[in-house]
Amino acid sequence: MVSARAPSLSRAAEARTDDVRFDNYSLILKGQRVFLYSGEFHTFRLPVPSLWPDIIQKIKAAGLNGVSVYIHMGLVNPAPGVVDFDSFRALQPLYDAAKAAGIWVVLRPGPYINAETTAGGIAHWATTEVAGTLRTNDSDWKAAWQPYIQGIIEATEANQISNGGPVIAVQIDNEYSQNPISHAEYFVDLEDAYHNSDIVVPLTYNDPGMGRNFINGTGAVDLYGLDSYPQGFDCSNPTRWRGVVTNYHQYHADVNPSQPFYSPEFQGGSFDAWGPTAPGYGPCRELTGPNFQSVFNLQLWASNFKLLNYYMLYGGTSWGGIPFPGVYTSYDYGASITEARELGTKFDELKRQGIFLRSTKDFYKTDWVADASTGLSVSSNPNAFITLLRNPDTGAQFFIARQNDSTSTATTTFQLNVTTSAGSLRIPTVVDAITLGGRESKVIVTDYTFGESSQALYSTASVFFAGTIDGRDVLFLHGNVSQEHEASIRLTGRPSRLTQPSSPKVMQSHGRDFTTFSILAGLEGLATLYDSDTQLVLYADSETAAAFWAPVIPGAVDDPFRNYWGFGTNQTVLVGGPHLVRTATLESRGRVLSLTGDLKEGVRLTVIGPKSIRQITWNGDSVTADGVAPPPSATEGAITAQLELHNDFTGIRVPKLTGWKFRDSLPEVNDADFSDDRWTLANKTTTNIPKKPLYGDGRILYGCDYGFCENIVLWRGHFEATGQEKSLNLSINGGRAFAASVWLNDVFLDTSFGNSTNNRNSIEETDEKFAIPAGALQRGDNVVTVVQDNMGLDEDNTEKSPRGIRGFSLEGGTFGDWKVQGKVGGYRDFPDKTRGVLNEGGLFGERQGWHLPGFDTSDWVERDLARGLPDQKAGVGFFTTTFDLNIPENIDAMFSFNFEESLGQPYRVYMFVNGWMMGKRVANLGPQAKFPVHEGILNYRGSNTVAVALWAMLPNVTNQPDLQLTLDAVYEGGVGNVQVDNPEWSSRGRE
Ligand code: GAL
Repeated sequence: MVSARAPSLSRAAEARTDDVRFDNYSLILKGQRVFLYSGEFHTFRLPVPSLWPDIIQKIKAAGLNGVSVYIHMGLVNPAPGVVDFDSFRALQPLYDAAKAAGIWVVLRPGPYINAETTAGGIAHWATTEVAGTLRTNDSDWKAAWQPYIQGIIEATEANQISNGGPVIAVQIDNEYSQNPISHAEYFVDLEDAYHNSDIVVPLTYNDPGMGRNFINGTGAVDLYGLDSYPQGFDCSNPTRWRGVVTNYHQYHADVNPSQPFYSPEFQGGSFDAWGPTAPGYGPCRELTGPNFQSVFNLQLWASNFKLLNYYMLYGGTSWGGIPFPGVYTSYDYGASITEARELGTKFDELKRQGIFLRSTKDFYKTDWVADASTGLSVSSNPNAFITLLRNPDTGAQFFIARQNDSTSTATTTFQLNVTTSAGSLRIPTVVDAITLGGRESKVIVTDYTFGESSQALYSTASVFFAGTIDGRDVLFLHGNVSQEHEASIRLTGRPSRLTQPSSPKVMQSHGRDFTTFSILAGLEGLATLYDSDTQLVLYADSETAAAFWAPVIPGAVDDPFRNYWGFGTNQTVLVGGPHLVRTATLESRGRVLSLTGDLKEGVRLTVIGPKSIRQITWNGDSVTADGVAPPPSATEGAITAQLELHNDFTGIRVPKLTGWKFRDSLPEVNDADFSDDRWTLANKTTTNIPKKPLYGDGRILYGCDYGFCENIVLWRGHFEATGQEKSLNLSINGGRAFAASVWLNDVFLDTSFGNSTNNRNSIEETDEKFAIPAGALQRGDNVVTVVQDNMGLDEDNTEKSPRGIRGFSLEGGTFGDWKVQGKVGGYRDFPDKTRGVLNEGGLFGERQGWHLPGFDTSDWVERDLARGLPDQKAGVGFFTTTFDLNIPENIDAMFSFNFEESLGQPYRVYMFVNGWMMGKRVANLGPQAKFPVHEGILNYRGSNTVAVALWAMLPNVTNQPDLQLTLDAVYEGGVGNVQVDNPEWSSRGRE
């Protein structure tokens, strides 16, 4: 298909499938209006595909309906023309997990993704083999990305919504500008690739902020979106807020009012940089914590966004060579789901929001009526800033309240003057006020429909859940325990035995049509406000509400969308108590409710579901209902039981890491017979990398030009000594926070350090004079050995980072051959196809495969890792040990490797767990000392190998890496069947 396009026409006109449409309000999937509430998850940052369902199920459990996924070109397409979707690079397990959970997928394959990853995701080989400019219409760049994008297309076509799959959109590249025209034409090239395939879902775009790119004109996408990180990325002052963005709505009205408002990335956390003053992810999680989510996310709702994606929802791990120089191994991101896959209070807040949105169809189509800055004066107190959204069809209104100064921590109380179907009201009517308790926002609804036909005239309490269960209309409200709340509801049906609210802190006043429930401050736990044969109205403090789940009951077996809420099913139950509820099914004509999920401890289970339920199972085991009402309420149709753990967690043995074996890994320096004959001769004199050598003799000593783009690269510069040589100069570039150690023959000269990225003047390249000490020169051939770390390639737009030696000179002499060695085989021929192109570097031990499980270390010496290298020498040594784990099948245990000594020792460690480089520890910079490692990388029922490449960067210091395995958390449940795929050592036949 040739896509003719008039430059000024929005591409939305060219819908290629009716299954994904949109209007000015929202996305419309298969004819249904949808609020896309989604989270970002990078499968490549969790290299265990059988754990992807865990993340997807948790996203689902939060009430969200989408996941957004960057794909990493550099990993999938490691060498020209090679496209590899095996192992953790696969797409199908992601699509399968999404479909099984009923989660839509927005695929974001780049080729450029930014993402705090090396080269922004562009394949390393392309940064050196492409002569043209990356991310333009240059023909060699186009030829470079074609196989990758074709691979994406082939893996995705059958998984689109139009084919019964989860994929609803594909994003073009990421964060770019439409000018100059070469950028725009590059977008056209990418769009043509999709249009010439069976990809029919809309093509979308993520603008860097309010940049107005690709809405109209050349390269315009089908659906425009913008990203926003209003809190910034400095987590060191986690309570210092920058305030909400107040002009989103105006921007939308100005630039694309005929499309729904979309943010493909809104701040869901923050990354963190190398350096001793880096705060680590705890403070990032605080900076973007539940109160941030409340205020900033609701500001998006108030701005009438109807497609939202939080970046990140699960950050994961930038293992191996994934990071760009600005970030360390952990990509936890302070996100709602931690790197170790745990849930905390951010998840709770997200869930309260997610289930509200899932419950509130009237919110999917709203007109932005006005806000306090455009003349809406409904609040009795100017310190409460109100935005009003209204559904034009139903009249439902949403008053979104925040502090006028969005950073304020004050308590603000106010009343609202609202116009409802029952006339004008000043709410609340019985209790005094609506309260914003500091950094808190809320949605106050009027004329709110719940279930089939029930109506709340208003509620100043927040809606947690609304829907139909067993033919009854159910409304579940919640609120801050220290505040008073009020809801006015048209009651229907024949009341059950409970004729009064179940808590003395609820007052009831009957009007003609509506009954007003006033909730006094201090109501803790769950209370039943009203319970009849047609209605159930519940209230809980917000924390208690977060202990409830609303798992979706799948619909008809033959419906591909049976797990999608509002598509294949409208059936749900409420389940309170468990740490996580993953799935629910109703079988045997509604008699058996089967739940799966996770427990941290024994809990009270409360199920509000169909009366037909006779039996409940939890993770396959029958649960005995005890008939004890959930105190203090006694809701009809509620079943209660006690869930106990089956496992005694205290029985889980955490092995000590002992029995270390050691071998030197720097024969280049320490073995007089070492020969680099088989290394690559570094004799190129041209490079496609624009930053040319700073000095030398014209030879290019950039690793990537010889196939060695990532991790550690070794250089050997030979010269015939005359005796006149005094010193040498080297300019070494490894990216910010890098290091390079330099030897002459077997004499250590020095280590050049880059510093951390917290500092704007951080060093990515050194220029240093190394004096030649007396006695270091030898007759004949002399060799300078450089061990150089690569921190990844920069992520700026058209990045082609020079990594290697940018300048070399020998005072009093001349260099002969330069030799270079990175990981075995370089990017064309690396042996470990499972762990992929970014896992290994060029250390001797890595070239030999010492980091892999199964390598025979029986002739190595015993030496404790905590003793560092022998003789306080600078150098590199390998330490390995094995340990067994024996964790029961139904346990999800979170382990991490921890360096327990304090920060500051001058060493670097590359930590391999069963062959996977799961941690780079830079002990003098930090901050990371804790490295979570998942099951799948770890073998929970068998033997495990940990290999540590220890690089002592300075002599005469004893490094004492105190590495311990820690059990951080244990849950009964998990997804189960986690596959281990850790290929063992085999001879590599090459040095
Ligand atoms: C965005 C970018 C993402 C990521 C994020 C910060 O601008 O699109 O890829 O880098 O910033 O984490």
